[in-house]
Amino acid sequence: MVELRINTEKIKNMISPILYGVFFEDINYAGDGGLYAELIANRSFEYYDRDGITEKSRMCWEELRGTRFIISESKPLNGVHTHYASVSGGSGCGIRNSGFCGEGFAAKTGDAFIFSAYIRAAAGLKLKAVIADRKGNICGSADIVCGGSGWNRYEAEIVSETDCGSAYLSIVLPFGGSADIEFVSLFPKDTFKGRRNGMRRDIAEKIAEMKPMFMRFPGGCVVEGRSFENMYNWKDTVGPVEKRRTNWNRWQSEEYRNLGFDASDYYQSYGIGFYEYFQFCEDIGAKPVPVVNCGMTCQWHEGLMADMDELDTYIEDVLDLIEFANGADDSVWGRVRAQMGHPEPFGLEYIGIGNEQWGNEYFERYEIFEREISKVYPEIRLITSAGWKDRGWEYDIAYDWMRANKDKAFAVDEHFYKEPEWFLNNIERYNDYDRSLPKVFIGEWAAHTSADIRSRKNNWYAALAEAAFLTGVEKNADHVIMSCYAPLLARYDHQQWQPNLIWFSNDKVYGTPSYYVQKLFAENVGEYTVESECDDEEVKQCVSVKDGEMIIKLVNLSDKCKSIRIDTAESIRVTEIKAEPEDENTFDEPEKVYPSVYEIAPSGGYEMPPHSVSVLRYSM
Ligand code: AHR
Repeated sequence: MVELRINTEKIKNMISPILYGVFFEDINYAGDGGLYAELIANRSFEYYDRDGITEKSRMCWEELRGTRFIISESKPLNGVHTHYASVSGGSGCGIRNSGFCGEGFAAKTGDAFIFSAYIRAAAGLKLKAVIADRKGNICGSADIVCGGSGWNRYEAEIVSETDCGSAYLSIVLPFGGSADIEFVSLFPKDTFKGRRNGMRRDIAEKIAEMKPMFMRFPGGCVVEGRSFENMYNWKDTVGPVEKRRTNWNRWQSEEYRNLGFDASDYYQSYGIGFYEYFQFCEDIGAKPVPVVNCGMTCQWHEGLMADMDELDTYIEDVLDLIEFANGADDSVWGRVRAQMGHPEPFGLEYIGIGNEQWGNEYFERYEIFEREISKVYPEIRLITSAGWKDRGWEYDIAYDWMRANKDKAFAVDEHFYKEPEWFLNNIERYNDYDRSLPKVFIGEWAAHTSADIRSRKNNWYAALAEAAFLTGVEKNADHVIMSCYAPLLARYDHQQWQPNLIWFSNDKVYGTPSYYVQKLFAENVGEYTVESECDDEEVKQCVSVKDGEMIIKLVNLSDKCKSIRIDTAESIRVTEIKAEPEDENTFDEPEKVYPSVYEIAPSGGYEMPPHSVSVLRYSM
């Protein structure tokens, strides 16, 4: 019998109300080709080579038989989208989009889509937007008659009349002719919360079901970029989508093809931009935690740094971002937000200055950001970075800096991608952290079952170690105030990274064992922890209280059943995940590792299954 001693009289720590969140980065086609519901890849013919050559403009498009399809630049739609398709030929000519990763999109009977495009053609020219399967069988279509004179935007609804499997969109000139075509878009009508330019419903719901208390975005390495031109600048991502620049995605780089997947078609349309991120946070009840570039490109690669006297523009961008999020609707940037449809402020409280940065060069820059931002917005809580390691010189510099500058950061972002054993050995990591220093935000973490990325599994063994680690995090959640697994999303067979929390394909999505651990902990977070001790080394635990309810989290790391006595006269609600260490969820078995919920009588006993994570709740 395992003994768990709980002293409800002894409050240990208050638990941060934002302890469990998510981290969204456009990696693994998480954004374009994933959460962003847009179904057309390279919709504005702006894909380009890293050096700016435009021969990639045709990517993801092909001409139908007998079609002359060229990319043109003369008299473009605007100064941002300078390339468009010029299409001409006899009857039936046109162009077809391959969808993201060449996989088209899912279309089932009755599915409605909103097609739109800018077209410049002679008045009266007839076009058809056609959704067809791989073999060309038509599932649905809409007719367009051009009005003439310059660029005009056309919009039509297409309903699929059959199950298409993988579907593709074509724009066809049924009677021939010529047309300039730009900014072709196709959205499912049914997006998350029904928003235009919205999120894919099933993926968004999977995230929302975790009840994340915050969302860190938009990265990750994409914030830093590989060059000054490639850096993420939030200002490129707001306003009308037709005016947002296309940026190449730094995860398309060759060195990330080690999983065997070509990502040369991986770009950022910025269709999900800062407005959409803030809106999504609001929709799922998560506090927004944007990360901004601090004038440094990825230190893993080129590590370019803006000179100290060039930081003004970067700082200005942060000040403007705060105004965009929180400013009155008649302020310069508040007005942009209001015009986009959200006159009320978004309530921004936290900003990460830089992503995974390290070294003295970073802290020299951070100090300037901090000084200038807190002059104008002292209420904004700034997050600094401890780099990418749990220890070592990068970490030491960060902590030395914090000891000397305790008030200059609200929290420090620590990242851990480590083997499961590291998490098991670090459950008590935060017990002795100096509470007078900035708080800890574990902004990226995951248990990696292998050093070789190709062999890393999203299995129950990894999730079990993560759960055990979280018991220690929760016991220190007065100081470790936020945590989020990374990466969040991955398109199956097109990932640059693994493991990931949620996997999706064109029509399916599933949560990994780690997902169910994160969800379980977030759904059962207490208000404060109480003193608790367990006499079994193989059982990790954490006990908290909320609204007169006892919340006991138990992780049984052993391969044996363990009996535990619970002293209560109330019945106990158990949520339990048990599995074999090597078990994984898949598209075929998405709930192989899945929580079960049941009640036990107040008989005083609970049997912890081998390799299990459980939450026990009862009235005190
Ligand atoms: O989560 C994947 C990457 O890991 C992030 O982009 C980066 O911050 C870290 O190195």
